[in-house]
Amino acid sequence: MNKSYYIETYGCQMNVADSELVSGLLSQDGYDETKDINRADIILVNTCAIREHAEDKVHSRLGFYNQFKQKNPSTIIGVLGCMAQNLKEDILESKPYVDIILGPDSYRRLPTMIRDRSSEKSHLVDTKLSKFELYDNMFPSRNTGINAWISIMRGCDKFCTFCIVPFTRGRERSRSIEGIISEANQAVSDGFLEITLLGQNVNSYNHAGRGFHELLDEVAQIPGIKRIRYTSPHPQDMTRKVLKVMAKHDTICNYVHLPLQAGNDRVLKRMNRTYTKSRFISLVNQIRDLLPNVGLSTDIIVGFPGESEEEFKETLDVMETVRFDSAYTFKYSSRPGTKAAEYADHVTKEEKQDRLERVIKAQKQHTLIQNQKLVGAVEIVLVEKESKRSVEHWAGRTDSNKWVIFEKEDTQIRDLVPVQIKHAKGITLRGDIVSIQQMEAVK
Ligand code: 5AD
Ligand code: SF4
Repeated sequence: MNKSYYIETYGCQMNVADSELVSGLLSQDGYDETKDINRADIILVNTCAIREHAEDKVHSRLGFYNQFKQKNPSTIIGVLGCMAQNLKEDILESKPYVDIILGPDSYRRLPTMIRDRSSEKSHLVDTKLSKFELYDNMFPSRNTGINAWISIMRGCDKFCTFCIVPFTRGRERSRSIEGIISEANQAVSDGFLEITLLGQNVNSYNHAGRGFHELLDEVAQIPGIKRIRYTSPHPQDMTRKVLKVMAKHDTICNYVHLPLQAGNDRVLKRMNRTYTKSRFISLVNQIRDLLPNVGLSTDIIVGFPGESEEEFKETLDVMETVRFDSAYTFKYSSRPGTKAAEYADHVTKEEKQDRLERVIKAQKQHTLIQNQKLVGAVEIVLVEKESKRSVEHWAGRTDSNKWVIFEKEDTQIRDLVPVQIKHAKGITLRGDIVSIQQMEAVK
């Protein structure tokens, strides 16, 4: 019988895609994936280092995995991804039950390491970062039948002062357009309807002088592709050319994630974000001009070192001006090794909590206002899963990335259906499926 592995993933979508790569590597090497940790010969955890909270979770999971090793000492435990580098010392000293430590550029070594670890006593560690590793020509073992994640570039050269990613994932490098198109073609012929292009800094994609807009233009023309999304872009690289390509193709979803981080120019400068408040707002206006009804989301950090109450209010101010459809909101978390961790003027825990609550409250109002604008409209929704609340309802997303709940009628998961939006409550929309004729009448 083949040995089986269990893999748990923390953090961003890049990590989800990386875990699929790792699964692909192990399947090719004759291992079977199990969803039941009790049956695993190999337990892997793909880690995230972006905030302290994410790291804490992994630490507590490691203790939990150790219990399996106690019961069955031949179990191999591997720590993969962004925490590998920083955890190396700690793990070797205080977590002897961890067998393998592999950074984000070393996954190809995993099958060999598992074999070696079965016969050797010493821990196996490789956290070297590579300027070249792109995991091209690999066969990720993808999880859902709807969306296929495709990483198009790796690493980040932006060095925002709060962020650990440039240190954990190394320098920016992009795959060839040909390699990406061939992977996307394969995903479409395997039955995936949606493709999400991924990168830590997706729109700074550049391969042999060809930029993100050219790649997007080519992916959009793949026969049979239904929906294309991408994440996460940086405002600095959001060009008119990218927006024009988005406007040109119906297959590219009308949705942009535009991380603001903070609304005050001094804070933005200390964050090394390279744009100002007014530049950000004019970019939003440009996006909305070129892409009417676009869904806009953002990332916001509250309590960056030195952020005063007045400066924080400018974040609320930008939120009020822009009215994002949704936002991922975070309390600043100091990451050892980053520039901001050395700033002396850290904001108190209480202040961060208070600011977080205020941005969440503002965002809830904005989400509701934005969602209410859709009431009466007919949106094309991709049926993705059953609603958590009722077996008679589906949940699916609009082109602009909003979740809608509606009665199943005789539709199936994977169908693209016209849904008339009836209510907007909280963050969810509710609607009813309409016929094509009804849809034309609403237009
Ligand atoms: N503290 C809080 N949030 C952070 N992010 C990145 N680093 C930190 C940090 N040290 C957030 C940013 C980024 C998102 C992926 O995570 O908002 O856009
Ligand atoms: Fe981190 Fe900034 Fe790079 Fe995003 S752009 S991964 S926030 S350094």
